[in-house]
Amino acid sequence: MRIPLSRPSIGLRELAAVGQVFETGWLGEGKWTAEFEAAIADYTGAPHVVAVNTGTSALHLALDACGVGPGDEVIVPTLTFVSDPMAVRMCGATPVFADINPETLTLDPADAASRVTDRTKAILVTDYAGLPADVHALRRALGDRPIAIVRDAAHSFGSAIDGRPVGVRDGEDATCFSFDPIKNLTCGEGGAVLVCDAGRAELLRERRMLGFRAGARRRTPTSAAELRGVVGSGFRYHLSNINAAIGLAQFSRLTELLEGRRAVARLYDGLLGHRNDLRTFRRDYSAVVPFIYPVLVPPQERDALLARFAAAGIHADLRYSLCHQEPLFGSAATLGVAEQIADSLVCLPIYAGLAESQVREVVSVLIAGLSSSTRADAIAHA
Ligand SMILES: Cc1ncc(COP(=O)(O)O)c(C=O)c1O
Repeated sequence: MRIPLSRPSIGLRELAAVGQVFETGWLGEGKWTAEFEAAIADYTGAPHVVAVNTGTSALHLALDACGVGPGDEVIVPTLTFVSDPMAVRMCGATPVFADINPETLTLDPADAASRVTDRTKAILVTDYAGLPADVHALRRALGDRPIAIVRDAAHSFGSAIDGRPVGVRDGEDATCFSFDPIKNLTCGEGGAVLVCDAGRAELLRERRMLGFRAGARRRTPTSAAELRGVVGSGFRYHLSNINAAIGLAQFSRLTELLEGRRAVARLYDGLLGHRNDLRTFRRDYSAVVPFIYPVLVPPQERDALLARFAAAGIHADLRYSLCHQEPLFGSAATLGVAEQIADSLVCLPIYAGLAESQVREVVSVLIAGLSSSTRADAIAHA
């Protein structure tokens, strides 16, 4: 595609950082991983940050650390990436899908609360398109029920709540980031779990690395006994030095990366916001970093528009097809708001470095598609 939906802004700085790791010969989890965790803790204000290999691993570990297991239910917004319900299944639990708010496109607290049962152990909220979900409203809707809330902040690294970057201070039990290739900040592949509780952080570290007690894996043991440190079951979800070094290099240009996305969204808003044949979701970009740029078009025109974009070498996409309609989940639930939005949804290319001329090209293909369908409608009704 000439204009992809998204692409990482990576270059010589990231390459040089990886070169430094190569020179040490220590490619796996190590010094860079710890520095990356410290950088995220410093930026977000989170007391504990546990870096992992993907955002999906982060979600799995976070739910696990909140005690989610077989027999439990976890409520998940249907408009999210399939990583969320998949992480629930990896804990042996059942995802229960809930509807979204039509303005924020994030989980609808009242709808989520109406789906709580005795088995509900946790609720996942997704900061869709970079707008932080309102966890306080969800807590109010839940009353005093002891249900864990895990924030899927894969889209919202760098967005702010009350003037401070999304972290783990707004009523959630854990917050998960993804640093995959197209995220606001990338490690190549990577993720992180943020928690406030030291015991939970220790459990996350154990579970991240095959159940080894934290600090048990020394490079040069001085006795055989020191090597015996497997105290529980665990996964191999650690973040490598290579990936962490890429993330650290990205950190040094974070403002450029975040502002680049904001500039594209402002341009789209200016070019599309006044039209009455489509709907945009204008946000306060002093707080929100737009990870994707969704627009709603007449549902009968949507697929023709996607085809037009593809023919023009532009990757527009649906983020996401609804989870409850995936064959694996096959839920009979009707989630009216999400279903109506999903029928009209088109996500336009957005990333730091997308040129103004390319944004204008995307907009002209969109407008030409909409006006040709409007003309066709007029002819059909004549
Ligand atoms: C909302 C959401 N959650 C979770 C993930 C999973 O992150 P990763 O790709 O790092 O596993 C993604 C990735 O696209 C995502 O968009």
